[in-house]
Amino acid sequence: MSKITVVGSFSMDLTVTMDTFPKEGQTIIGKKMLKNPGGKGANQCIACARLGGDVEMIGMLGDDENGRIIKDLFIKEGVNVSHVLTTDLEPTTIALIEIDASAQNKIVVVPAANFVYSIEDLQNIKEVIANTEMVVAQLEMRLDVMEELAKMCQKLNVPMILNPAPAVPLSDELLSRVTYLTPNETELSVLTGHPVDTLDQMKEAAQMLLDRGVKHVIATLGDKGALLADVSGMKVIAGYKVHAIDTVAAGDSFNGALAKALVDGKSLEEAILLANAVGALTVTRHGAVPSLPTKSEVEEFIKTH
Ligand code: RIB
Repeated sequence: MSKITVVGSFSMDLTVTMDTFPKEGQTIIGKKMLKNPGGKGANQCIACARLGGDVEMIGMLGDDENGRIIKDLFIKEGVNVSHVLTTDLEPTTIALIEIDASAQNKIVVVPAANFVYSIEDLQNIKEVIANTEMVVAQLEMRLDVMEELAKMCQKLNVPMILNPAPAVPLSDELLSRVTYLTPNETELSVLTGHPVDTLDQMKEAAQMLLDRGVKHVIATLGDKGALLADVSGMKVIAGYKVHAIDTVAAGDSFNGALAKALVDGKSLEEAILLANAVGALTVTRHGAVPSLPTKSEVEEFIKTH
């Protein structure tokens, strides 16, 4: 059994870069087209593995070429894939990603195989969850599966990092079972219905989530770092200023690094500092999985920044 278990999404990302996003009804000539494995869960898992984490991936692939490419990659990265399932009901999930010259992105994910993963599939791996030290999840799978996972984690006393992306309003029941909730600014606003234009507003929104039962809110703020909110108070943990060319998977690498650092016994603040560095390095490279740094790259980055 692995120390960290990521329950989540796979995808084959089809990325197009361009100067500016097309307007409604407009056709534009783009720059480059890239095809790379991604998916928030997959990115978080590989981020963790590249930092030296002992990690298992749980999820569903289609019985197709994309599924095989992704599974081979996971094996090469040293991830435990013994409970990754394959379906012939749907193809492997595809994400369509547009990136403009200022490194902003727009993403559409077609649910496909990720949404075939069921509560029954999850119940079949209860032993895996019971024997892991940290569970990492996102919201690219069915919400009822994630709710069941949170229930299982609470029952088995396993801490859970929930990256609420893509954001949807969540029940108090689910939130109260989450140990670490890691929204970005937009997700923080969707979860609370509260504006997040200023740091004070973000703190108010984070407090709303604490009041609803989340143990620790860690709101990622891009190059400004991350806001940590819990019973001991609120604090911004500084980030790194870098030249961003592609922000895809920055949040994912942050979550993977956070899990690895916490399992290694680092304090929450130390873990967030490391995760900020990993997220910063990720935005300096193109693609999802290709942009995820290794342990030695992160150590060198921290030394020189
Ligand atoms: O967070 C980035 C990921 O979101 C991409 O890899 C894409 O697959 C989408 O799921």
